[in-house]
Amino acid sequence: MKRLYETILTEGTVINDNVLKVDSFLNHGINPHLMKEIGEEFADRFKDENITKILTLESSGIAPALMTSLVIGCELVFARKRQSLTMIDNLISTTVESYTKKQKNTISVSGDLIKPHDSLLIIDDFLANGQAAKGLIDIAQQAGSSIVGIGIVIEKSFQPGRSELEKQGIRVESLARIASLTNNQVQFEEKTCL
Ligand code: G4P
Ligand code: NA
Ligand code: NA
Repeated sequence: MKRLYETILTEGTVINDNVLKVDSFLNHGINPHLMKEIGEEFADRFKDENITKILTLESSGIAPALMTSLVIGCELVFARKRQSLTMIDNLISTTVESYTKKQKNTISVSGDLIKPHDSLLIIDDFLANGQAAKGLIDIAQQAGSSIVGIGIVIEKSFQPGRSELEKQGIRVESLARIASLTNNQVQFEEKTCL
């Protein structure tokens, strides 16, 4: 995705060897034009699958997931990180461990919203160690739903997330794959992307 690569290079800031800040278009501010293209790209990559619902995690997964669901014409549900006042019955929950923050968080989805007949596409903004993705997979499995794959906006390919997911036999489609963030520079996996 040329536009995504260009936006990462022009607007992204390398914080350190492991972290890329993309607050202007993905994690704080949202670029709707770029997000629309992201939705079209995910829809195209998974066009041969019969997706009934998109599953993501609040908050930064919602924007790309919403655009994708609009293009595919399916529903969307996001896992919550905070307890909801109204979401009490039939909760499906799991714990997600963050390596960077060294803490465990519970994420939940109502069992009323994902069902055994659902065929889910999981979408998230970043793939690092894969903990969030694993949590979403666990929720899908508890619901008895099938998973067609995972769509990621920015993958840090030097971290183990992708290989962990592939070990589980899960298809991973990442729109931008970052090979390295060393020397304050973003190096993409694909040399021919620009
Ligand atoms: P971790 O174990 O390496 O910490 O990865 P994890 O998947 O737990 O990610 C923790 C949070 O940090 C996630 O956001 C994830 O999207 C984000 N993240 C991981 N690596 C990067 C990075 O290089 N750049 C940016 N910008 N974010 C990164 P979250 O806490 O769920 O926040 P949000 O979805 O509310 O934005
Ligand atoms: Na994030
Ligand atoms: Na996220």
